[in-house]
Amino acid sequence: MTKIDVLLGLQWGDEGKGKIVDVLTPNYDVVARFQGGPNAGHTLEFNGMKHVLHIIPSGIFHSDKINLIGNGVLIEPRIFRQEIEGIAEKGVDATKNLFVSKKAHLILPSHRMMDAANEQAKGNSKIGSTLKGIGPAYTDKIARTGIRVGDILAPDFIERYGQLKRQHLMMAHAMDFDVDAFRIDNMTLSEYEKVWMESLATLKRFRFVNSEYFINQCLRDNKKVLAEGAQAMMLDIDFGTYPFVTSSNTITAGVCTGLGVAPSSIGKVMGITKAYCTRVGAGPFPTQLDDEIGHKLCELGHEYGATTGRPRRCGWIDLPALRYACMINGVTELYVTKPDVMNDFETVNMCTGYQIEGQCTDEIPFEYNTVHIDPVLTPFPGWKQSLQGIDSYDRLPEHLRTFLAAIEQQTGVPIAAVSISPDRKDVLFKTV
Ligand code: GDP
Ligand code: IMO
Ligand code: MG
Repeated sequence: MTKIDVLLGLQWGDEGKGKIVDVLTPNYDVVARFQGGPNAGHTLEFNGMKHVLHIIPSGIFHSDKINLIGNGVLIEPRIFRQEIEGIAEKGVDATKNLFVSKKAHLILPSHRMMDAANEQAKGNSKIGSTLKGIGPAYTDKIARTGIRVGDILAPDFIERYGQLKRQHLMMAHAMDFDVDAFRIDNMTLSEYEKVWMESLATLKRFRFVNSEYFINQCLRDNKKVLAEGAQAMMLDIDFGTYPFVTSSNTITAGVCTGLGVAPSSIGKVMGITKAYCTRVGAGPFPTQLDDEIGHKLCELGHEYGATTGRPRRCGWIDLPALRYACMINGVTELYVTKPDVMNDFETVNMCTGYQIEGQCTDEIPFEYNTVHIDPVLTPFPGWKQSLQGIDSYDRLPEHLRTFLAAIEQQTGVPIAAVSISPDRKDVLFKTV
């Protein structure tokens, strides 16, 4: 019986998970998503082609590998259809190797409306949701009123759909939300509902499985399985910067509930971090740079949301947050992405601690959102050279290797590989 390896983001998302999953997929038989939904945007680049995936696992471009959407994931049928059509244009017929859990919950058009209504009601304390309906759909899951993929085939599906939609409309009216003015992709709620319903036909072309049996049988058959995280540690519903988080458990523990595997089945835990840090949407970000350097990181790193196009906030790498992430997730190896963005920096800073009200601390405080945090910065000399064409870890510039060694020393976790461009080919594995 094999164990399931896990790959997840250690910061606030967009660390390059999709890219690394795509690179690692040849070593696996199955790639499975365990949480999140279309709020995710995972970018893959190879052969001069760029592709962004939202719900579909990032192993999909390897036609001989199985991809699974687990029970912990949320599916929005129209976004799913658009994704399927998008990869079909690139010659990928996902019906052959993509399986969908019957227990994955559906995002209804009215969940998306409720996402907008909730954000509107928050006024100045908006979370900056991607507005894909994530919060309201997980709310219904926990409230035991949600509708699952397997329910699409039930005779009372339309009735249940209508009942849930009516409930959402009642809530929206009670919140004084202007339902008539609400639009998704320039469509009214009822126009969008029509395309959403039509999109169910695409979803039905896929094999719906009891994914917990499916995945455990794969492990018993000694197949190698990789669980692909979405969002990231600091957006976790329990341990992230609540309430500025997403609505799922993005951490290793989420693999157990989002796929139906036992904790003892977890194998390697690969954590991804950028060599700096970004955050999109609202919420605390102690190392954020509102200056020229922050702007430079955003421009050189093309830090614009893969799902919403919003500019990402940028800052230095945050070791207290990273250490917390390694602790909560049991990270066994690190992947560091995007050092190339800082190639011409004179100095590269690393936040090694927090100063809060005159006290130095290493802990993520409960009051993270409300206290003022001064990052304690340790400067490193920049490597001041292009990384283009470097084909082995050992050939990386010495100053970059010193910076990477400090990340290992600060976290106590070894680095497995470094990514130095968006392309699939530019991942340098460290040989030990
Ligand atoms: P994910 O959500 O974690 O999969 O990450 P995103 O795809 O949202 O954002 C990562 C962005 O960085 C994408 O545009 C990638 O193409 C890009 N990227 C990934 N790795 C590297 C790297 O090593 N260097 C550079 N310059 N870009 C990278
Ligand atoms: P990937 O998988 C970065 C952020 C949103 C918002 C908060 C809640 O690409 O790393 P939600 O739509 O879940 O209700 O939004 O979480 N967020 C992400 N930020 N990357 C993501 O996914 C994200 N998914 C959600 O910006 O602040
Ligand atoms: Mg992303």
